[in-house]
Amino acid sequence: MRKNIIAGNWKMNTTLPEGLALAKGLNEALKGKTPNCDVVIGTPFTHLASIAAAIDTTKIGVAAENCADQEKGAYTGEVSAAMVASTGAKYVILGHSERRAYYHETAEILKTKVGLALANGLTPIFCIGEVLEEREAGTHFEVVDGQIKDSLFELSPADFGKIVLAYEPVWAIGTGKTATSDQAEEMHAHIRATLAAKFGNQLADDCTILYGGSMNAGNAKELVSKPNVDGGLIGGASLSVENFMPIIEAFDK
Ligand code: PGA
Repeated sequence: MRKNIIAGNWKMNTTLPEGLALAKGLNEALKGKTPNCDVVIGTPFTHLASIAAAIDTTKIGVAAENCADQEKGAYTGEVSAAMVASTGAKYVILGHSERRAYYHETAEILKTKVGLALANGLTPIFCIGEVLEEREAGTHFEVVDGQIKDSLFELSPADFGKIVLAYEPVWAIGTGKTATSDQAEEMHAHIRATLAAKFGNQLADDCTILYGGSMNAGNAKELVSKPNVDGGLIGGASLSVENFMPIIEAFDK
């Protein structure tokens, strides 16, 4: 059975005191509740250790938003997967479209990062998704298949089984323009078929595929009602407890 996950991606937002307050607020809001999904928050590197120490990490998983493509050494300013794991974080978001576009992360670099994340016991939340021109040209399935194949298809089935995918159409990120639940379902079903052809039906069926892109309290229920949408990766709406909690509760019966 695959897991449902609601994951926040704070991006480059919040100072450490602000981030701690947000994490503690969410921790408080979840007290005495048993959500029908796993809850994860992706925070800046600087916040990971303090947040992991301040909240109940059995209820809220902590994620880094990136990690280095090198194990260790003379890479000034980089943060390794081992360093991330040593903070108490359990996840790492990799291949976000902002990292691909602004920091030139290629499929090859991401393949290395995924390997290092797995080697250090982190669960990669691996992001894929097409830009608007690709959707308009009708190449979105091909583009997403390529992103998956180029970075993940050399993994062993056992390692692939540890990956969480996040389909985030770039045109929907931070734009307030969400993919319709039918568009999300169509792509997620397509992705699952691509995974099944490579890794078999069982692994494909067990893979958690999140939707990301302007997901919010108003559209979350409809999106996660789709059979192949197993949760969300949420940017803007993860920055307040008030906006994030209803997305977690979208899984409530
Ligand atoms: P958004 O961001 O929810 O603000 O659109 C999603 C993401 O980039 O992961």
